[in-house]
Amino acid sequence: MTLPTFPGPIDRPRRLRTSTAMRSLVREHTLRPADLVLPMFVREGATENRPVSSMPGVEQHTLDSLARAATEAVERGVGGVMLFGVPEHKDAVGSGATDPEGILNRALARLRSELGDSTVIMADLCLDEFTDHGHCGVLDDAGRVDNDATLGRYREMALAQAEAGAHLLGPSGMMDGQIAAVRDALDSAGHQDTAVYAYTAKYASAFYGPFREAVDSSLQGDRRTYQQDPANGREALRELELDVAEGADLVMVKPGLPYLDVLREISGASPVPVGAYQVSGEYAMIEAAAANGWIDRDRTVLESLLAFRRAGASTVLTYYASEVAGWYRDGLPPHLREFL
Ligand code: PBG
Repeated sequence: MTLPTFPGPIDRPRRLRTSTAMRSLVREHTLRPADLVLPMFVREGATENRPVSSMPGVEQHTLDSLARAATEAVERGVGGVMLFGVPEHKDAVGSGATDPEGILNRALARLRSELGDSTVIMADLCLDEFTDHGHCGVLDDAGRVDNDATLGRYREMALAQAEAGAHLLGPSGMMDGQIAAVRDALDSAGHQDTAVYAYTAKYASAFYGPFREAVDSSLQGDRRTYQQDPANGREALRELELDVAEGADLVMVKPGLPYLDVLREISGASPVPVGAYQVSGEYAMIEAAAANGWIDRDRTVLESLLAFRRAGASTVLTYYASEVAGWYRDGLPPHLREFL
């Protein structure tokens, strides 16, 4: 019995999958703790941590527990932390965002004084955590988000965050011209070295659901007049061109797994490093399925993070950052060795 030779000898890709050693030799992408960024929530006036029920394992921190958890994450080797503030009082213009004594700015100053330049301290630059209506900007008389008036607030917010000690600011409000406005405000005040991580392709996504609980937001309406339509890919490239021209140092695609195609395209076209954000709803889905015993949690986590690397992300924002960095630091357990 001879094997068929037409149209040619059988090609056997399985040869490269025969053993752990062979698979390891030909593996194209890997994860490093330094690729991962941990998003963290800090709550004003809190005396103890509060769990976020839709994100098991994630909490609203006090200033002290934030400092402890961030230090632990940095010791495990994460690339950075991204801070979100949960203020005690919200108002129409998000005053807490620009107050140097506001919770986010205090938290940035605290981490910078404790961690110095040993990690990259990032700040969400957006008003939604601070406004009583929950929108990312200020509203005009008709109740619409006023793009250009919002840019004025972002300029002030950028200065407050840079002065508090943030290394990298993440404008996430999807206002037109926001990167140029922030860059100009920083440069005019002597903060040339404060970098900008643009949320470039940010979609109006249902996957942000649990985040609303994490920042106590009660959004009135939706964000579809400023965040991108999930049906569209092309405008992500336009946003990329604009953000790079306006001075973005890094660019991000968000959410993550449902937008891997966008990530792939952006990473192919971008002259600056590209990141992806595995958002709250993605985290919640993995946790919920794992809690039901329907998936292998740890392997699903690493597979999903690796997918971002394969699609072109150099950094990944993920609520799993500290935990996963710990796995790598301690040596991956046998059931996860395929991710080494
Ligand atoms: C805006 C912001 C949001 C998230 C990060 N920055 C919410 C939104 O745009 O509605 C969501 C992150 C997540 O869901 O994990 N400040």
